[in-house]
Amino acid sequence: MRKKVLATVMALGISMGVGLIAAQARPSKRFDAATKTCRLLTFKNLEDGYHLFENSCKSCHHRGNAQGAEFLYSESTTMKGWTRVFATRYPECAKDGVWNKLSQDQLLKINDYLYAYAWDASDPHCFV
Ligand code: HEC
Repeated sequence: MRKKVLATVMALGISMGVGLIAAQARPSKRFDAATKTCRLLTFKNLEDGYHLFENSCKSCHHRGNAQGAEFLYSESTTMKGWTRVFATRYPECAKDGVWNKLSQDQLLKINDYLYAYAWDASDPHCFV
């Protein structure tokens, strides 16, 4: 009898633990609409993307900038939001040529990083 209770409690504990990990896991891949490819969100891509974003985008999009650019960080929008930014290139800076200094590979990596760390990419917001 005792053993059965213990086994049930343990099974419950394990499934809750697995559930929590699954809810917090970040995406491991994304579909890139512009190139119609599946991108693996590898550590290397995310690391490169982070540095490129810091150097090429945050140069304007930092707090209190003089360029009139809104403060941006990965959690500024959702995974869907970042996909739209890069797929449609609707931002002013994408249209006026600022993005042209970056290669497609660099933009893909920036998109990888922003997507992986987007506002809704993991669920810590539900636990705080
Ligand atoms: C030379 C300065 C500059 C650089 C570099 C720059 N931007 Fe911008 N960006 C702007 C300005 C100015 C706007 C228009 C004002 C605004 O909406 O923030 C803008 C708009 C945006 C918007 C729209 C914000 C909104 O609320 O609609 C996004 C998204 C964006 N930029 C992303 C990026 C990304 C990603 C990069 C790097 C690849 C980048 N920007 C690089 C100046 C810059």
